[in-house]
Amino acid sequence: MTAGPESDGPGGAPVRIGIVVVSDRASRGEYEDRGGPAVRAYLSDVLTTPWRGVTHVIPDEVDLVRDTLVGLVDDERCSLVITTGGTGPAPRDVTQEATAAVLDKELAGFGEAMRAVSLAHVPTAILSRQTAGVRGSALIIILPGSPKAVRECLDAVFAAVPYCVDLIGGPYLETDPSRVVAFRPR
Ligand code: MTE
Repeated sequence: MTAGPESDGPGGAPVRIGIVVVSDRASRGEYEDRGGPAVRAYLSDVLTTPWRGVTHVIPDEVDLVRDTLVGLVDDERCSLVITTGGTGPAPRDVTQEATAAVLDKELAGFGEAMRAVSLAHVPTAILSRQTAGVRGSALIIILPGSPKAVRECLDAVFAAVPYCVDLIGGPYLETDPSRVVAFRPR
């Protein structure tokens, strides 16, 4: 099977995936958002399962980030939510706090793996409080804002994403093995 763009696919509803860009400036239209398109391009490249993105571009406001995540999981029925931006140490960086408030369980290994891989690329990777966790039957992954970081970080963890979604009761996600081999222990 070849990886394809976002589509409805034959038969059955597409898997819904939330894409949240957390950025004051992008939300005000002061610059063109590149993080959200990087997430979308990555998923189109890697997933063979039909999926549909539900995108929000929002400012770095903790209540808004929290409510957006809850809405995507509880109301929009997204099985996977990926955020980009607001993971650093600056006063306006609150994505980690907002996410922690809505997770049932944190999966700290995601942050550890992403930072370990990222540190080989850039010393400031240590500044990101990127992580992941579970809310209901959805996996939420929070990433730094740069498009380069989005690709590097998703490459570091995506092999484990389909099995994680299996374990929490989400849909069966398939990947293009020439891009990412989804690891499912037997
Ligand atoms: N991780 C990777 N893989 N590549 C990067 O370029 N940038 C770092 C870090 N993680 C980076 C990275 C920088 S400079 C910062 S400040 C933090 O992510 C936080 O970014 P954010 O505030 O946009 O979330």
